[in-house]
Amino acid sequence: WSSGGGSVIKLRYLALGQQTAMAIPVKKIFISDAVHESCAELLRDAGFEVEQKTKLTEEQLIKEIQDVEALIVRSETKVKNSVLNSAPKLRVVGRAGTGVDNIDVEAATKKGIIVLNTPGGNSISACELTCALVVALARNVPSGCQSLKEGRWDRKLYTGEELLGKTLAVLGLGRIGREVASRMKAFGMRIIGFDPIVSAESAAALGIDKMDLPEIWPLADYITVHTPLIPQTKNLINEDSLNKCKPGVKVINVARGGIVDEKALLEALKDGRCGGAAIDVFTEEPPKSEWLLEFIKHPKVIATPHLGASTVEAQTRVAVEIAEQLISIAKPGEGLAGV
Ligand code: NAD
Ligand code: MLT
Repeated sequence: WSSGGGSVIKLRYLALGQQTAMAIPVKKIFISDAVHESCAELLRDAGFEVEQKTKLTEEQLIKEIQDVEALIVRSETKVKNSVLNSAPKLRVVGRAGTGVDNIDVEAATKKGIIVLNTPGGNSISACELTCALVVALARNVPSGCQSLKEGRWDRKLYTGEELLGKTLAVLGLGRIGREVASRMKAFGMRIIGFDPIVSAESAAALGIDKMDLPEIWPLADYITVHTPLIPQTKNLINEDSLNKCKPGVKVINVARGGIVDEKALLEALKDGRCGGAAIDVFTEEPPKSEWLLEFIKHPKVIATPHLGASTVEAQTRVAVEIAEQLISIAKPGEGLAGV
């Protein structure tokens, strides 16, 4: 039943020939990540018993969710099959955010556990971070700042480039990609892009020239990815595509670790095929492997610790949205915003 862009759907069963919206019995809710306090407040006001504890081990989490019907997470809690199997009363898992990669949705579905998320609640924040990173890459903002803090005055070393007239490739023209496109157009960039489900006509209406990937690689000065991490997008930017790009291309990933092959990107940064990368998401979060730390520390890499959705506005929005969804599914006759 899940998929789509946040459309309102209803859980229904047929009773005596009539379609009736079905309520999910929820009394106790456990919040296991740093979800904004407005979530717990709204749920308590609606009469639910709510407990919030963060940074739990899997064992501690399992202990806490023994008698809860709903679990709310952000991205730190990994809702694995083992967790789902150890929570006998669990009926709903709510993700205060967009991606549900930290939840084993297939296992949940098999057990009849509903997975909810808040697509769109943090899109503008992720888009604005992306735009900030494009500008920061063009103008060497973090390295110039660091150098000055270390007592140097390196004006020549940090000469940048204008975005006016440069080409930005947006891969994934969904909620975030299209917002990035519209904002970066205001800098005078040409926007090209690819998305398998967006037609050339609807891309054109957004001011984007839709092209196939082989056409995109040699044209782009900057490439930003805004797809989900799925088998088709794993290593979408890889050694082969980097070899086909303009020398010095800059790469931005505020989507998911793994869409850009970090090892291939590091090699391309070392030999100049890539002129800079701005990365918010990693295959390993927090990064610990030596090679990944080497990548992050590369002078041409701007790295942020998965900050795309970390704004007061987005965190409040997703907290309120997930609480409202839980309240609505616990009431008969209410609609439900889907994954
Ligand atoms: P969305 O579902 O609205 O858009 C994704 C688009 O990618 C869709 O239009 C889809 O057709 C397209 N797509 C799928 N396969 C593709 C392919 N092979 N090539 C090109 N396009 C493809 O998603 P969204 O809300 O825009 O989110 C985009 C990404 O950003 C997701 O991975 C999401 O998890 C991530 N995200 C990250 C942060 C963060 O904190 N860094 C915050 C919010 C979202
Ligand atoms: C998301 O998918 O919403 C992002 O990863 C943001 C988050 O950390 O919640």
